[in-house]
Amino acid sequence: MTSSYRPDALIASDISAYLEQHQSKSLLRFITCGSVDDGKSTLIGRLLYDSKMIFEDQLAALEADSKRVGTQGGEIDFALLVDGLAAEREQGITIDVAYRFFATEKRKFIVADTPGHEQYTRNMVTGASTADLAVILIDARKGVLTQTRRHSFLAHLIGIRHIVLAVNKMDLVGYDRATFDAIVADYRTFAQGIGIADFTAIPISGFKGDNITAPSDNTPWYTGPALIDHIERVPVGDDDAPRPFRMPVQWVNRPNLDFRGFAGTIASGSVKPGDAVRILPSGRTSTVARIVTHGGDLAGAGRDQSVTLTLADEVDCSRGDVIAAADAPPQVADQFQATIVWMDQEDLLPGRAYWLKLGTQTVSATVQPPRHIICVNTMAELSAKTLSLNDIGVAEVYTDRGVVFEPYPENRDLGGFILIDKLTNATVAAGMFNFALRRAQNVHWQAVEITREAHAAQKRQHPRLLWFTGLSGSGKSTIANLVEKKLHALGKHSFLLDGDNVRHGLNKDLGFSDADRIENIRRVGEVAKLMCDAGLIVLTAFISPFRAERDLVRKMLPEGEFFEIFIDTPLEEAERRDVKGLYKKARSGEIENFTGISSPYEPPQNPEIHIDTRQMTAEDAAELIIEHILGIWSPVL
Ligand code: ADX
Repeated sequence: MTSSYRPDALIASDISAYLEQHQSKSLLRFITCGSVDDGKSTLIGRLLYDSKMIFEDQLAALEADSKRVGTQGGEIDFALLVDGLAAEREQGITIDVAYRFFATEKRKFIVADTPGHEQYTRNMVTGASTADLAVILIDARKGVLTQTRRHSFLAHLIGIRHIVLAVNKMDLVGYDRATFDAIVADYRTFAQGIGIADFTAIPISGFKGDNITAPSDNTPWYTGPALIDHIERVPVGDDDAPRPFRMPVQWVNRPNLDFRGFAGTIASGSVKPGDAVRILPSGRTSTVARIVTHGGDLAGAGRDQSVTLTLADEVDCSRGDVIAAADAPPQVADQFQATIVWMDQEDLLPGRAYWLKLGTQTVSATVQPPRHIICVNTMAELSAKTLSLNDIGVAEVYTDRGVVFEPYPENRDLGGFILIDKLTNATVAAGMFNFALRRAQNVHWQAVEITREAHAAQKRQHPRLLWFTGLSGSGKSTIANLVEKKLHALGKHSFLLDGDNVRHGLNKDLGFSDADRIENIRRVGEVAKLMCDAGLIVLTAFISPFRAERDLVRKMLPEGEFFEIFIDTPLEEAERRDVKGLYKKARSGEIENFTGISSPYEPPQNPEIHIDTRQMTAEDAAELIIEHILGIWSPVL
């Protein structure tokens, strides 16, 4: 396929001129979704064709290609127009979201063409997040399928208010009214069950053009609007009830010392000079001085406009903050209940820290095991330990600092977030905040009078966390023991938390799955932190196989207090020693998920101390560590 008639190629060069020409018209964003072969591409091709968005040379190419491919008996195959990617041509499926523009006399449109293949829920969510309307395509021969339910549920969840049920391929069922009525009745039962109050059902043929631009003679029994008529008329987002002003700050514009402006896109409400505003999360207040744009100052600005605000006072405000109406600010919280759509091949790891991005805010967040996941066929709430690809679940989300937000149903911009894997940078989930957990607001930090400094001063030492990590049998406990003996001899106050021991008490409910190890380390980290607050030098000896959790603990402590000590014994060596006989059992399959054999170990990349146990004795290693930690020369070395 040559790219000459790909509409996206066409769009790229002409889009700005095109949009300008249609500037005064309202804009409707919609998505099309359906299962593979439901005819989405053909329908979109038809819409573009009928709105004259294809130039003549492209049309000629399309006609030639349709003949060559020959699947449609010499008629124009509109699907060829939209199926832009070579891969999808080969597989016969659409695999990415493509945004396409077209316009009619009354309105302009952006349509997100989202794939139907089960594993591409991610693209559907991406396409749906800004849409006003969803066209749910059904193949008249197949009726309501699992995909239909999944997409409708997602569309509803994401807050799309208008649903069109396009029963397609009516030509292949002889334009039979009973078939159409049965599908609509079936869909209505499902839709009501998930809270979709209303939808518009239209019998169409994308291929033949029935009920697309004009009522079709083939369906005299259908008296409703043609598809284009309908989407030209549905009310769009701007008809919302007025909402208070919110603008997430994208960046601070400071070209010189005399000017400091806060740039962003207005997420809701409107603003004018003189308005009282509040900056969140800090809560400071000020007044809008000017609304600056490229074309000069504005007397006012509203939703979706990109502006730079200057404030009357010198207040702290940076990227990620939200400027809001002073008397109706959004909430700030760090614990939430959220609905999450999992989009990654790898399951959610409850307790693992992910990046959470909400508009311009990025924070570190962990997700608890889901309260339930939702079965899209029956809408039943099922119990689950984690979220897998395509699962939709409800779970608690904890962030490491306050997030400015609004419940998703009230504000998609301030309520919708994505989760990003910190190592791979892949987007693993999309989520919607339902509400903040009340306990987040009611549990305050208790100000203690004897501070951690006071505790440490009384012990005449600096608190430290010596975090030993390495394979089972690498020598962590042995060396940590020796270090503690030396600290004790030096009059230091210390405590050793050892994996095998802690797993008999505090963590006896945990096993060796990835999720359990993450929780093991999280708890140990919290305990170690409290002990450091008490002024102690804490030693921990845990395999702690994952970088993410070791880093999490590092960040819990003041800078310079955490020492990562890598006890580097290669697997062959640890296995040769096999002090506890566990490697033998692991090899014979008696122990599952054994680190180094059937479960991963991620060595530290930049540890404070790296001990190669093949190069020195445990005694020497302990000396080296003491020297490093306390800066004390010892006669042994
Ligand atoms: S961690 O991975 O969660 O940090 P931890 O250090 O607490 O592990 O416990 C490791 C100890 O548990 C090992 O030294 C070994 O004695 C024992 N053990 C039992 N089963 C396993 C297993 N599957 N993998 C690793 N260690 C195991």
